[in-house]
Amino acid sequence: MPDPLTVHAVLARFDRALGLDVSPRPLHGSRDVSRETQQRAVVQVKDVVHAPAVVRAVVAVPAGSREERVARLAEIESRHATTCQLCAVSNVKGKLVFGEGAPDAEIMFVGEVPGEPEERAGRPFMGPAGEKLDEMIRAMGLTRADVYIASVLKSRLPGDRAPTPEDIAACGPYLLEQVLAVQPRVLVTLGGPATKWICGVDAGISRIRGTWQTWTPPAGASCPSIPVMPTYHPSYVLRTYTRQVRAEVWSDLRAVLARIGRAVPTRVAATDA
Ligand code: URA
Repeated sequence: MPDPLTVHAVLARFDRALGLDVSPRPLHGSRDVSRETQQRAVVQVKDVVHAPAVVRAVVAVPAGSREERVARLAEIESRHATTCQLCAVSNVKGKLVFGEGAPDAEIMFVGEVPGEPEERAGRPFMGPAGEKLDEMIRAMGLTRADVYIASVLKSRLPGDRAPTPEDIAACGPYLLEQVLAVQPRVLVTLGGPATKWICGVDAGISRIRGTWQTWTPPAGASCPSIPVMPTYHPSYVLRTYTRQVRAEVWSDLRAVLARIGRAVPTRVAATDA
């Protein structure tokens, strides 16, 4: 079994294929970069052809208006649907689950892989895990329309098998394009695999949750680093429905609200108790 690929390894592979010196900066040592002092821009990925013939052109452009972000997300969605070597090429039969929410959301939630309810609806987090995520978002005083939700993989896997590093290497980069298009102030990774893909940190979720990490965009993208709060996946919360797990999730979500200067609602029984 090959070592799980992180986003950094994948981007480095792209860069090597291109002969470009646009390798990502090291992630560790998580320095926070103030958004205000960063030039807000996104990377546009053009002419993406997947490995082995990877062609990537990185162009820094201003982050843009809400409408521009909508257009960028629509472009990524249609390109993903036709070029993703997992979703477009494998014999995935159901609907793709690209992601949804406010194109200029302050908070972006990142899950792992859609299941049957999501595949049927073509929307992320639709089943019991979705109800739990909705509850978490409501506890924050927000609605789905206020945030952006996507997952590392955008199609259900046969037999709901666990994602392989190859699946993630194929589909995961489109999530990064979504992050660059939305440029949230905070990413909330749900569970270990999403945390690993976004942060490049291979620590168990119960160890890393609640500790601020950083997503560093690839060099060449003049987009700020984004703080990441790893927390438990809603499915885990449902499976391990203990007072402690729920209190930990609520503590993580409160930290997110505090980080972006939003009022922190007082104790919410459904999530906290
Ligand atoms: N779990 C995820 O991680 N993503 C979804 O979209 C649904 C369930």
